[in-house]
Amino acid sequence: MKDFLSLAKDRYSVRRLSEKSVPQELLEKILEAGRCAPTAHNNQPVRIWLIQSAEALEKVRSAADFAFLKTAPAVFAVGSEPSAAWVRPYDGKNFADIDAAIVATQMMLEIHDLGLGTTWVGHFDADKLKGLFPEMIPYNLIALFPVGYPAEEARPSRLHEDRKPEEETVKRI
Ligand SMILES: Cc1cc2nc3c(=O)[nH]c(=O)nc-3n(C[C@H](O)[C@H](O)[C@H](O)COP(=O)(O)O)c2cc1C
Repeated sequence: MKDFLSLAKDRYSVRRLSEKSVPQELLEKILEAGRCAPTAHNNQPVRIWLIQSAEALEKVRSAADFAFLKTAPAVFAVGSEPSAAWVRPYDGKNFADIDAAIVATQMMLEIHDLGLGTTWVGHFDADKLKGLFPEMIPYNLIALFPVGYPAEEARPSRLHEDRKPEEETVKRI
């Protein structure tokens, strides 16, 4: 990818994934992209799970109803532990979810940069997932990333081009 803006604009939510397996070294790079992310006060309250075994994939698939989750050869889950996160002293704001979102965003962009595809899945049953993976209980779970090679028929959805006009999002003051 030539430059960051091209990467960011070119990425889209891939909702058709092939079942072709992903080389382990690429999965390790995605983990590394998450691990090098900044976090508030450098507290690093984030945990990333790489889900690859048939048994674990079966469990994660039961917590969200998306066809592309069923074909993905690997799934990442991202969460953060509020008790380990920085809290802003002025107003008590806990930065756990923000830290997790930065980690997740870096992973999502790395997935695209590697020629793989994913969709950030936030619509899943977090309580069910925690029941199936008790080690996740202390964490706010914010993302699942089913990862694989985009299927031949994968295309951006209509929403990919649908962004508010600049004046609604940006205020120049
Ligand atoms: C925090 C977050 C949660 C999301 N959750 C889901 C989801 O559960 N299912 C889904 O199909 N897409 C989900 N998406 C993808 C968005 O729908 C998508 O990013 C948006 O429509 C823009 O399309 P694009 O990613 O192709 O540019 C999520 C995206 C974000 C950032």
